[in-house]
Amino acid sequence: MASPQPTPVTIRTLVRMAAKGERFACLTAYDATTAKHLERAGIPLLLVGDTAAEMVLGLPGTIHAPLDFLLTITAAVKRGAPNTFVMGDMPFLSYQCDEAEGIRNAGRFLTEGTADAVKLEVDGTFTGLVSQMDRAGIPVCAHIGSRPQRAKHDGGYRAAGRTRLDAARIIEDAVRMEEAGACMLLVEATPAEVATEIVQRTSVPVIGCGAGPACHGQIVVTQDILGLTDWQPAFAKPVADMASALQAAAQRWKTMVAAADLGEHPYTMLEDNCTQRD
Ligand code: KIV
Repeated sequence: MASPQPTPVTIRTLVRMAAKGERFACLTAYDATTAKHLERAGIPLLLVGDTAAEMVLGLPGTIHAPLDFLLTITAAVKRGAPNTFVMGDMPFLSYQCDEAEGIRNAGRFLTEGTADAVKLEVDGTFTGLVSQMDRAGIPVCAHIGSRPQRAKHDGGYRAAGRTRLDAARIIEDAVRMEEAGACMLLVEATPAEVATEIVQRTSVPVIGCGAGPACHGQIVVTQDILGLTDWQPAFAKPVADMASALQAAAQRWKTMVAAADLGEHPYTMLEDNCTQRD
């Protein structure tokens, strides 16, 4: 069942897959152990999303993701999945305030986080920043469409591009981001027609997150498809019931502890003339 990545996945691998029409599955990851198993399962791209704020830290939204925390777990994911393309997610206010700070923070994802690219939530007003990052040698995935870091501004998480005007604006954002140097696009929560037109009008790999089947890659939050979350977006239906498996394992352990049923104890006393090192 497992088909591990034999060689490192690079941006060129993803471009080739997109050109050949080979759809690629992407998932989020926030720790080395999970990343290791996702690499073994043959997932070529892992996103260390700011959804870690919710999935790992139990915070109420992605805007609470701390930059240093994301850098630390990005490096952990890359250690766990060294042959997988790992994308670090730039958190709220790590790139929106000023360009120099944004470029330095993006660079930290490559150096400290050992990421292969950074992702940032943008619209056409960010072309200057994206081209500066590109100039600095930082591979950028431009996240367009629905942008969860703007949830408070927009009155909640919402789909995007559902009116002709908004759809045209998002398609224009995609074109401008590629012109600015983005090496990949991530389109979140739009009607399928919007992503279809983006795929037709741009030449970089397009990853969809609830954007329909035309995208070259598809990404969802891993915990959602594992059935570990109490709510999932409609495009990320669980494909496993890991919540039940996890709870059953914990209950089994609880029963074993209550019954002092711990199996044979692995340590015995050493002879008097031995030391711990013998
Ligand atoms: O932060 C994240 O996990 C994301 C994906 C859901 C696209 O941005």
